Amino acid sequence: MQVEGLPEKTLLKELESRLKGDFTYSSGRIIGSMCTSPHPLARKVYARFLDKNLGDSGLFPAAAEIEKETMIMLGTLLSNTGATGHIVTGGTEANVLALWTAKKLSKKTNCEVIVPFSAHCSFDKASDLLGLKIVKVKLNDRFQVDVGAVKKAVNPKTIAVVGIAGTTGLGAVDPIDELSELALERNLYFHVDAAFGGFVLPFLKDLGYSVPDFDFAVPGVCSITVDPHKMGLVPIPAGGLLFRNENLRKTVSWDIPYLSGGETEQATLVGTRSGASAIAVWTVMKLLGREGYRKIVRNCMRLTLKLAEDIPKIEGLDRVAEPTMNVVGLKSDVFDIRRIAGELRAKKWAVSLFPRHIRIVIGPHVKERHVERFLQDLKKVADELRG
Ligand SMILES: Cc1ncc(COP(=O)(O)O)c(C=O)c1O
Repeated sequence: MQVEGLPEKTLLKELESRLKGDFTYSSGRIIGSMCTSPHPLARKVYARFLDKNLGDSGLFPAAAEIEKETMIMLGTLLSNTGATGHIVTGGTEANVLALWTAKKLSKKTNCEVIVPFSAHCSFDKASDLLGLKIVKVKLNDRFQVDVGAVKKAVNPKTIAVVGIAGTTGLGAVDPIDELSELALERNLYFHVDAAFGGFVLPFLKDLGYSVPDFDFAVPGVCSITVDPHKMGLVPIPAGGLLFRNENLRKTVSWDIPYLSGGETEQATLVGTRSGASAIAVWTVMKLLGREGYRKIVRNCMRLTLKLAEDIPKIEGLDRVAEPTMNVVGLKSDVFDIRRIAGELRAKKWAVSLFPRHIRIVIGPHVKERHVERFLQDLKKVADELRG
């Protein structure tokens, strides 16, 4: 840090100039990320209330009340008006908290958690952090976890099972009802990771898509990750973790004595945390309502299906599966998928690369013209690779 401070104008100019090299959502070129451009009102309220600290809720009881209301709205969206939880930093923190809860409840030291092979890497982080063994189970031909294999993997050390409602790679939904049955039968903690799907599946169901039950309507589900900073149009950081009831939420709760607002309960991994995030979630959910999100999801899905239909028309390319939600897997039996991703990136498309496919996510910021331009560039790439 230099000794003398610099003028505001100079700093803003430098920031404008340095940051303009980054990708922008408005360009429509970010088609591999699960995040999107936050709603303009969310930006406004986030900036207006960014001094609110939910880690010291005695100082900000009104903000804490808004978080409670937000969790009731999210719980209601996911079929449980009695759900409680917190707005956290993201899906990673939510998944860590869920497994931390499962571990504490089990009171075991040598524990295993069963997750699908499609699970997000946050479960590997949780395993390392919490000293849990993660047992990864194979998928079926629809990219859902193989429930038979999950059953076989259960043993006396197993404390929890994880199902995914909207996998990171392909947006697939695991058979949550079957996993729930198993969890209830074997007395296991059952966590559903709907970090992405939580803000998509309820609206797809409203729109008439066939959506299996994946939320608290399924009796064995103990907790759900649902991230407003993905399809919820809320600024980062805004993840969400919901528990079926208050007893579960309190499993990893701590009384923090030293805070200036008085003794406060914290039940998240972090202490000091953004009240503005919870306020922004509350605002966007109230502003858009179910109908607003429905419209957004309808449009994302329309473009997703167009993309999924047009990809196989390009020689040498195919989609991995029929999309379940607004995620498309692009594969090739002819070209090296890494080369396709490299060429697309050279053409300034921010795609996401998995071991055997490219993931495309049609977020709310992606418009029809972007999809058309992408398809044109994709065809060019395939033509060039063919020589
Ligand atoms: C299914 C799923 N869970 C969890 C996460 C982690 O979320 P975050 O990056 O907000 O920590 C992701 C990220 O894409 C995800 O797809």
